[in-house]
Amino acid sequence: MDATSTAVIITEELTRSFGAHIAVNNLTLRIEAGEVFGFLGHNGAGKTTTVRLLNGVLAPTSGSVRVFGLDPTTAGHRIRARTGVLTETPALDSRLTARATLLHFAEVYGVPARDRRRRVDELLATFELQKRADSKVGGFSKGMRQRLALARTLIHDPDIIFLDEPTSGLDPVAIRDVHQMIEWLTHRGRTVFLCTHNLAEAERLCDRVAVLAQGRVLAIGTTRELGSRLNRGHRISVEVDASDIARAVKLFAATPPVSLAEAVTDRAAVRNGSASIVLHGVSRPDIPQIIQTATEQGIKLYRVQPEEPSLEDVYFALQEL
Ligand SMILES: Nc1ncnc2c1ncn2[C@@H]1O[C@H](COP(=O)(O)OP(=O)(O)OP(=O)(O)O)[C@@H](O)[C@H]1O
Ligand SMILES: [Mg+2]
Repeated sequence: MDATSTAVIITEELTRSFGAHIAVNNLTLRIEAGEVFGFLGHNGAGKTTTVRLLNGVLAPTSGSVRVFGLDPTTAGHRIRARTGVLTETPALDSRLTARATLLHFAEVYGVPARDRRRRVDELLATFELQKRADSKVGGFSKGMRQRLALARTLIHDPDIIFLDEPTSGLDPVAIRDVHQMIEWLTHRGRTVFLCTHNLAEAERLCDRVAVLAQGRVLAIGTTRELGSRLNRGHRISVEVDASDIARAVKLFAATPPVSLAEAVTDRAAVRNGSASIVLHGVSRPDIPQIIQTATEQGIKLYRVQPEEPSLEDVYFALQEL
């Protein structure tokens, strides 16, 4: 790691096998401090194995890992003092209260005795658990359990937080709460390594994502960068008055740089007495020209929307490789 580097996680050709099965295959990553990094992949892609390798819970078969410049195989303890890991199915003792759970972990993670109560109170407040602080965890809803598990992950104020599918199985309200917590962490400059299957979640929260399949990274970058690799021409969808459809298709098809104007079925538009057209070969900067052309020709335009490839488009395109 060079002196000016702000990377907190660096892996080079990191590989881990279980017998003949290669769970993580030649993973080369560089994650900067303060980044929210999405780790996307199907079941068995190697996400959890990677989290374990990065925290020194598993040793690599080959390749190297540095977290805060330290090697997890020899300095796992020092790394784990500065990382928090929310595992896929966090085990909570249902006989303990929320407060007792956090106090216990504060002790385990070496929070000084004089600071423990204050730290636990802060976390109970942040995660909206004060009212149930002295109730047993056994009676908690799934969402409350997950908030408590997250609070527990943060007890020692870690610099890197690993979240392994933190929203799977939660209802929309609980998911929103977890997302708000991730945003709260990023505003406080923490680095977040987020394993997820949920593409919308990654798209919304992450600065960059890696798409993983069978232990290999298929692509790394921002959603926009990955989208541009799809090589699919940009498109804009427009909605015009149903009475203008034929004229509009002809007009747009003759408006450069539109390469194709295609009328498409859109039930929502039909219900509004309008019709949809997809314009190929154009992108956001062409929108003013499209609006002007339509207006000059008296075409009633109700909606113009650029169709940038979503992470979902990218994900499925990459999986087909
Ligand atoms: N301790 C182990 N022993 C043997 N095989 C393992 C072990 N841990 C993981 N594997 C295998 O390695 C591969 C990657 O597993 P991993 O749990 O990292 O995937 P994942 O991306 O986290 O999947 P999921 O989305 O289901 O959690 C899988 O094929 C899994 O069966
Ligand atoms: Mg997993």
